[in-house]
Amino acid sequence: MISNDINKAVEVLNKNELIAIPTETVYGLAGNAFSEKAVNKIYELKKRPFFNPLIVHIKSVNELSIVAKEIPETALKLAKTFWPGALTLVLKKQNHIPDTVTADKNTVAVRVPNHPLTLKLLNRLDFPLAAPSANPFGQISPTSAEHVFKYFKDQLEVILDGGACQKGLESTIVGFEDEQAVLYRHGSIALEDIEKIAGKLVIKNHDEITPNAPGMTASHYAPQTKTYLTNDVKELIKSFPNKKIGLILYRNEIDKQENITQKVLSKSGDLEEASKNLYATMHILDQSNLDIIIAEKFPEEGLGKTINDRLKRATV
Ligand code: TXA
Ligand code: MG
Repeated sequence: MISNDINKAVEVLNKNELIAIPTETVYGLAGNAFSEKAVNKIYELKKRPFFNPLIVHIKSVNELSIVAKEIPETALKLAKTFWPGALTLVLKKQNHIPDTVTADKNTVAVRVPNHPLTLKLLNRLDFPLAAPSANPFGQISPTSAEHVFKYFKDQLEVILDGGACQKGLESTIVGFEDEQAVLYRHGSIALEDIEKIAGKLVIKNHDEITPNAPGMTASHYAPQTKTYLTNDVKELIKSFPNKKIGLILYRNEIDKQENITQKVLSKSGDLEEASKNLYATMHILDQSNLDIIIAEKFPEEGLGKTINDRLKRATV
């Protein structure tokens, strides 16, 4: 049920049951990170493969040593700069973190989410929250409580309503290999901003690193409607005469046509605004009875890289 009741949320989590939480990136499907039982339920409900580890959400940077150890200098600097915020750090895990959370890896992914309601909730709990995005495996991440409800209906006793997610794309994931910072997933903090603090990162946001970030597999973030990505929308449309088409466009509409629904993500060309609108637009188009969706490629800079990454995965 969609609700604002933090007391109820605490009660459900203390029973090692699951709830949905708002964050600034996307909604999470959350349970007690120290409870095998709760963590197993997350994998079950999400139909997520057990080899794909979860992110642990803590209330402040001061709690970092509860979940991680041997923290590199640069990691601490990044945490202090961006937390609370949309940066997930992959660090050596503390032994008491259940192996189910980390899919048997010796590292753990951790972040402090930047949402007032969820920070309030974390401050009421004796444990951190393990939480993947609150969508069934492979589907579009939810950026509102209504999206979560659409997926899980009454299977969740509490879907905490924190409004529309301010960032709208998942966190950026950074790990360390021999002290070198490595990007595992583009996210809603631009790579360029992270490099200002950490220096040049090694980019491993590719499919071939699936053992490191197994979530980054094909057919992720995907609408049910067949989706295409192109540099030239007008040209690609010609290949689909008589089809009902949904367009995801960056700044500008094309000439109106009867069978085409157009969604512009940011008229002013603001990539933050476009990021915020991307998943919500995908959710809407996916429910509009279209034959296909065509998305326009974004400029490969800043958050444009993250948007292109998600669009590519939506089209596989
Ligand atoms: O913004 C976000 O990060 C959202 C909100 C809810 O915090 N969460 C999210 O979780 O996107 P999820 O489970 O959908 O994606 C987590 C990603 C996966 O790609 C997973 O493979 C990666 O984090 N990951 C988790 N632990 C890891 C580890 N130890 N090493 C490498 N990658 C890891
Ligand atoms: Mg996800």
